[in-house]
Amino acid sequence: MQRRSTLYGRRKGKPLSQRRERLMADVFRSLAVDILRPAPQTLADLFAVPVDDIRLEIGFGGGEHLISEAKASPATGFIGVEPFVEGMAKAVAAIDADGLANIRLHDGDAADLIAWLPAASVSQVDLLYPDPWPKRRHWKRRFVNPANLEGIARILAPGGAFRFASDIDSYVAWTLRHVLASPAFEWTAERADDWRLPWAGWPGTRYEAKAFREGRRPAYLVFRKR
Ligand SMILES: C[S@@+](CC[C@H](N)C(=O)[O-])C[C@H]1O[C@@H](n2cnc3c(N)ncnc32)[C@H](O)[C@@H]1O
Repeated sequence: MQRRSTLYGRRKGKPLSQRRERLMADVFRSLAVDILRPAPQTLADLFAVPVDDIRLEIGFGGGEHLISEAKASPATGFIGVEPFVEGMAKAVAAIDADGLANIRLHDGDAADLIAWLPAASVSQVDLLYPDPWPKRRHWKRRFVNPANLEGIARILAPGGAFRFASDIDSYVAWTLRHVLASPAFEWTAERADDWRLPWAGWPGTRYEAKAFREGRRPAYLVFRKR
């Protein structure tokens, strides 16, 4: 299937502080995945520490959720993708301060990283509060689309999880419709609380906190790769 770029938002905001510029030059460089070279045959070799399985987080913002998960599961390798430079610099500062060795990063379009990853190489893909593109004429910009779902299905190991959270009802409905149209996934929900309540151990995200402040109720969808 033809793959379109899914990168639409801005990539730069305010200039970085000198300290963060330095961290991006040194620490980010050592954590960045080089997608111009082939992926290692054993993906776990990307990490400086032994890892049993690997998860991907798409569009991690400032990295709060990614870092919390990486601290909670030191034997899991995490690959985080975020094209927005300020968010990436914030995450790199926290990874450096916490000395986390189980995170690798990509600062571009997650679709490119997904295309680079080997088949069945990750156990979980998290897409948390993706840019909602609420206007109908912008819906085609949403990260959830048939090509990206095909990519996510390819990299997930059988039984792996695709987790999606959003506070925008039309995006939740859009995602359900698109994912359920794919034979690669099944929705795990059995009762309303399975999509109304956050997942066990959920640390929340920055955008989720904003949604609550503004009175929106998120939905939490988990799809299993067949
Ligand atoms: C609404 S924010 C949510 C950030 C974070 N997940 C949270 O919940 O706080 C969406 C994020 O997705 C990132 N993003 C947009 N398009 C992307 C793409 N194609 N690949 C990876 N990240 C993307 C944006 O830069 C932005 O940081």
